[in-house]
Amino acid sequence: LGTRLVLGIETSCDDTGAAVLDETGLILGESLHSQKDVHLKTGGIIPVVAQRLHKENIARVVQEALDKSGIAPRDLSAVATTVKPGLALSLGIGLEYSLNFIQRHKMSFIPIHHMEAHALTVRMNQPVPFPFLVLLISGGHCLLAVARDIDDFLLLGKALDEAPGDTLDKVARRLSLVKHPKCSTLSGGQAIELLAREGITDDKQKEEEEGIQKGEILSCVNDIAAAAQHTVASHIARRTHRAILFCKARGLLPQSRPSLVVSGGVACNNYIRKTLQIVTEATELDLLCPPAKLCTDNGVMIAWNGVEKLREGKGIVTHVAHIRYEPK
Ligand code: KG4
Ligand code: ZN
Repeated sequence: LGTRLVLGIETSCDDTGAAVLDETGLILGESLHSQKDVHLKTGGIIPVVAQRLHKENIARVVQEALDKSGIAPRDLSAVATTVKPGLALSLGIGLEYSLNFIQRHKMSFIPIHHMEAHALTVRMNQPVPFPFLVLLISGGHCLLAVARDIDDFLLLGKALDEAPGDTLDKVARRLSLVKHPKCSTLSGGQAIELLAREGITDDKQKEEEEGIQKGEILSCVNDIAAAAQHTVASHIARRTHRAILFCKARGLLPQSRPSLVVSGGVACNNYIRKTLQIVTEATELDLLCPPAKLCTDNGVMIAWNGVEKLREGKGIVTHVAHIRYEPK
């Protein structure tokens, strides 16, 4: 065991997550409660519903992470909790729970920026030195930044309209994919990825195939899924390519083997990963993604961000009165 232990808590959107990590990044215990099934039924996240579900589950999720780790609260060094950005009502539940917890058990608090946690998750499993380019693609966000240190990010650009996960979720909703036998428990993005495997985006190939099997409704859904996924992938690839050229021209990345880190829920998508692989191969960057289960929201990435801050003595709050709560 590493010496110091951190409990991470995530409630920024629709996942209630908790994890206990030691100082080396070893996961001692973790627990995650997803509200996805409830929100799929209503066709989107209703903030007061998300808040109620976080409230109902947070104590159990934290206790489960602690029980799995075999760690008593008094043996923890700090609680690290997402404080922004996210849904204010959801964030409030994690923050309130954390503040009560640290007052009861007397330990430090480490406020975590959800996007910074997504950006640094990859460093849990491999030593990725700063600076590196990071692309964060999720349901709520789409941004490109240069990670220069654990608390120093240069934002290059972000979506002006909506995030790619949101787009895919909307397409899935319009296609009523939640009623599709293969997709009833999948998020919009997952459903699109699954159906797109049997869809065709290439017009020529389509013309050839149409000669054989004509206009079946099912293959039409597959084709729409493939087209939506391809559109999102190629847009992201173009913007990322432009960011890489910009960073190279400005000397913002290391000369030898710079990295592109991709995270956030949409980074689970293999078609998007493969598209980005073409870009990184052409520009001689290493493409790095955390394992899929750490790309979507979870408590482990929050605890890991807490560990990195604890190690460097950055952003640790020892007096609760100093905590500023400003969700964006
Ligand atoms: O990071 P995340 O769990 O939550 C946010 O912070 O938004 O990302 C959730 C988003 C959803 O929009 C979901 O449809 C999308 O990630 N997503 C995917 C895939 N898995 C999840 N999008 C495309 N392909 C996937 N395999
Ligand atoms: Zn997220």
